[in-house]
Amino acid sequence: MCGIVGVVGKPAKDIILSGLTNLEYRGYDSAGIYLNDLNGHEYLTKAVGRISNLKEKLTPDEEGLVGIGHTRWATHGKPTVDNAHPHFDETKRFYLVHNGVIENYAELKEKYLQGVKFHSDTDTEVVVQLIGKIARDKNLDGFSAFKEALKLVKGSYAFLLVDNTEPDHVFIAKNKSPMMLGIGDGFNIIASDAISVLDQTKTFVDLQDGDVGDITKDSYVIETIDGKKVDREPHVLNIDPNAASKGTYEFYMLKEIDEQPGVMRHISQDYLDDNNSTKVDPKIAAAVAESDRIYILAAGTSYRAGLVGKHLFEKYADIPVEVGLASEFGYHFPKLSKKPFFIFLTQSGETADSRVVLKQVNERHLPSLTMTNVEGSTLSREATYTMLLKAGPEIAVASTKAYTAQIAVQAVLAKAVGEKKNIQIAKDFDLKHQLALAAVGMQQLVDGKEKIDELAKKYLANTRNAFYIGRGIDYAVALEGALKLKEVSYIQTEGFAAAELKHGTIALIEKGTPVIALINDPATADLTRGNIREVESRGANVMVFAAKEFAQVGDDVVLPEIDYYLSPLLTIVPAQLLAYYASKNKGLDVDKPRNLAKSVTVE
Ligand code: F6R
Repeated sequence: MCGIVGVVGKPAKDIILSGLTNLEYRGYDSAGIYLNDLNGHEYLTKAVGRISNLKEKLTPDEEGLVGIGHTRWATHGKPTVDNAHPHFDETKRFYLVHNGVIENYAELKEKYLQGVKFHSDTDTEVVVQLIGKIARDKNLDGFSAFKEALKLVKGSYAFLLVDNTEPDHVFIAKNKSPMMLGIGDGFNIIASDAISVLDQTKTFVDLQDGDVGDITKDSYVIETIDGKKVDREPHVLNIDPNAASKGTYEFYMLKEIDEQPGVMRHISQDYLDDNNSTKVDPKIAAAVAESDRIYILAAGTSYRAGLVGKHLFEKYADIPVEVGLASEFGYHFPKLSKKPFFIFLTQSGETADSRVVLKQVNERHLPSLTMTNVEGSTLSREATYTMLLKAGPEIAVASTKAYTAQIAVQAVLAKAVGEKKNIQIAKDFDLKHQLALAAVGMQQLVDGKEKIDELAKKYLANTRNAFYIGRGIDYAVALEGALKLKEVSYIQTEGFAAAELKHGTIALIEKGTPVIALINDPATADLTRGNIREVESRGANVMVFAAKEFAQVGDDVVLPEIDYYLSPLLTIVPAQLLAYYASKNKGLDVDKPRNLAKSVTVE
C-alpha cells in the first residue's frame, strides 16, 4: 500500500506522475509531489483523492530535475491535504515521503520534538521533523542527520528524502517496505515497485532492509545506518512492460482473468518437462519430502489457495498439512510437529502478516519456501527457498490469476515431493495433461463470459447479500468465490460448507437471496443437490456451477473436465467473472475497491 517514486537527474514531474499512476493499483486516498529545479525553485503540491486531482493543481512551470512523489493510504490521520506526503520540517529544509508505519512516533515526538510546530497528524512528519532537529542541533549535513534519525526510528519504512541545501541528491532508506533503485543513463529512479517505472529503465538494484543510500544523477552509494558501505549489484529485470498495461480492456481484473489459460501454459512449460516429470529445485523437493508436516501460511486469497494446496499435498505428497492465517499464526504459534516445513503463499511477497511468521520460523532455524509472483520480494529473500508463480504482473487489487497460479504451482510441488518419495500416484499424476486441460477449460469459461454477465444482472444487481456453498475442495473455492464477490461488488457474501448452512445460517435465506452452489466432489455431489433444494424451498435464487459428470439440466455453468484436485482452477473462473460483472454493472471501480490495497505491508 502507498506508492513512492523519486527521480534524480531528469525532468521529474511526468515520470513521477506516471509512476504513481502505475502504482494506483496499490490503493491510495491522497497524493503529493515535491520538485526542485536545482536553480533555487522548489514546488510542493498535494491533493486529496485521485492523481488526476494532483495533476490539475500542478502548473506547467512547476518542474524539477529532482523530485519525490507519493500516494498515501491513510493509516495515521485522515486523508487530507495536510496529511498527504511529502512532509517537511519546521524550517522547510527537508522533504520526505514514506511508505510504512512508524511504531514509536509518539515517543519520538514526546522525547525529542517538544515545542516543534507540526502541520499534520502523521507518523511521517515526526521523522522529517526529527531529521531537521538533529541537523540543526548537531550542525550536520542532510545524509548524516538522516542516518542519526534512523537510529531512533522503529517501524517499517521506505523513505525518500530531499535536503534543499544539497538538492541534487535523494537520500533513501528501507526497512520492511518495498523499494527498488532503477539505474538510468544520467539519471536514477527510486520506486516502491519496478513495474511503475519500467518505461524509464529495466536495470534495477534490489534494496534490502537496513539499507540507506545517497542517490545522485550518476551515482549511488548504499550503506548501513552505521555508515558501512554495502555492495548492491544492478541486474536487468526481465519483465515485459506491456504485461503491466491494460491494452484494450476497461479493467485489469478482466484482463487478468482472461490471462489465466496463458499462465497455466507458462507454469507447465517452466515446471514440467516433456515426460511429465517436474522441474523443481531438487533441494526444495527433498526438504519438503523430509518433513512430517507442511504448514501453509498466507492471508486473504492466498490463504484460500492454501486450503486447496492442503488437498493437493495430502493426496500427492502424502504429508499432513496445516493451513494458517498468517495474522493469527504469528502471535499464537501452535505446537509444531517434529520436522515442520513452512510454505508462504504470497502474490506480492510483501505481506506484513506473513512476514511476522517467517521471522519466527527463521529464528527457530526451520526450513521455509515462499511461493510468490514477485522476484526479489521481501518474503522471497527471507525464506530458505523460493518458487515463482509466473503469473505476470497482477495489477487489479482483487487477485485472480495469482490465485490459480498458486494452486498450479502447489500441484507441481506436491507432485515433485511425491516423486521424490517414490509415491506411485504422484508419478502417475499427469500434471502436464491436467494443466493443458485447465488452460483449455479456462479458455472455454472465459469465452462464455456473457452468460455470467447475464447471471450478475439477473441475480446480483439489487441484492445486499449472497452465499457460496460447496463441499470438499469446493468449500475452499466457495470461500474464495465469496471473497472475490464481496471485495469488488460490496455485496456481503459468505462461503459455507454446504451442509453447515442448515446449522444456523439458513435463517438468513429469504426470497431472492442469491446462492451459488459448486459441485465437483464425487463423494458429496448428491448431498449438495439436497442442500440446494433446502435453500430453493426457502426462496433462494440458486446458481449452480457443476462439473460435467455431475451436471444436470438447468445448471448455470457446466465445468469442463479436469482432475478433481485441480477443479478449483476451473470452478473459480465463473466466480471471478461473476464478481467482476457484479461490480462493473454497478458502475464501481473494479480494479480499486474501496478501503483495499494490493500489497498490505502493515499488520
Ligand atoms: C484479495 C486479495 C488479498 C490478498 C492478501 C494477501 O483479492 O488479493 O486478499 O490475497 O492481501 O496478499 P499476498 O498474496 O500478496 O500476500
